[in-house]
Amino acid sequence: MNRKYRKTIIAGNWKMNKTLSETKAFADEIKPQLGKHKWCEVVLCVPFVNIPAAVRMFKDTRVAIGAENVHFENSGAFTGEVTAEMLKEVGVKYVIIGHSERREYYGETDFTVNKKIKAALAAGLHPIVCVGESLEQRELGVTAELINYQVKCALAGLDATQMRKVVIAYEPLWAIGTGKTATAEQANEVCEIIRSIIRREFGARVARAVTIQYGGSMNAKNAAELLAQPDVDGGLIGGAALKVPDFLQIIAAANQE
Ligand code: 13P
Repeated sequence: MNRKYRKTIIAGNWKMNKTLSETKAFADEIKPQLGKHKWCEVVLCVPFVNIPAAVRMFKDTRVAIGAENVHFENSGAFTGEVTAEMLKEVGVKYVIIGHSERREYYGETDFTVNKKIKAALAAGLHPIVCVGESLEQRELGVTAELINYQVKCALAGLDATQMRKVVIAYEPLWAIGTGKTATAEQANEVCEIIRSIIRREFGARVARAVTIQYGGSMNAKNAAELLAQPDVDGGLIGGAALKVPDFLQIIAAANQE
């Protein structure tokens, strides 16, 4: 974290978990315990159907609600999809774009990711853009090249003002849902690479201001060490964001004085 230059963001990615009643139970449990979390923004990215209710449940808190996906067109014959404008109107602030599960199971590419980022920004949403390498790619030694390619494609055509609204999440595929976390050094190394790409493309001031999260088996135990790294500005958290005590501990780790 570097609180002087950029926002720390702790974001839960609930994926395809929690019904409406389970969402309410989570809100009822966490709200009295949230505290001020003055050093970080807290975000919950929840399934589409639960978004309007989640926005209402958290409206008297500083927790922002996010979506897990968005379509890049403004309207049209795209059965099952949702536009950025629809999300904005129901109170969404952030939207995850290009999660590896979307890339793997739903055919998202670096080019659709780019289009989705532009659509989200045009609607006034903050994209949380996911990039990351597989285990094979890491073992082949092509992590830096791959990240460079993914980040450049994702951010192509954005200007500096737009870039300041984008959050990047480094999520190594081998660490997602596996319980196998990247070491703090590995996480920081790739977050630093991402920042250097942004520096090259958008300049030093923008690079310094962009929030870069780590995601992949971040939990109550390892969060403090990961967040202590200078280029890790928060977390995108799956499993541990489904449990109130774990998520609270991660928020607490981001708020250590
Ligand atoms: P886990 O925290 O469950 O590994 O998931 C990480 C993730 O994919 C967040 O987007």
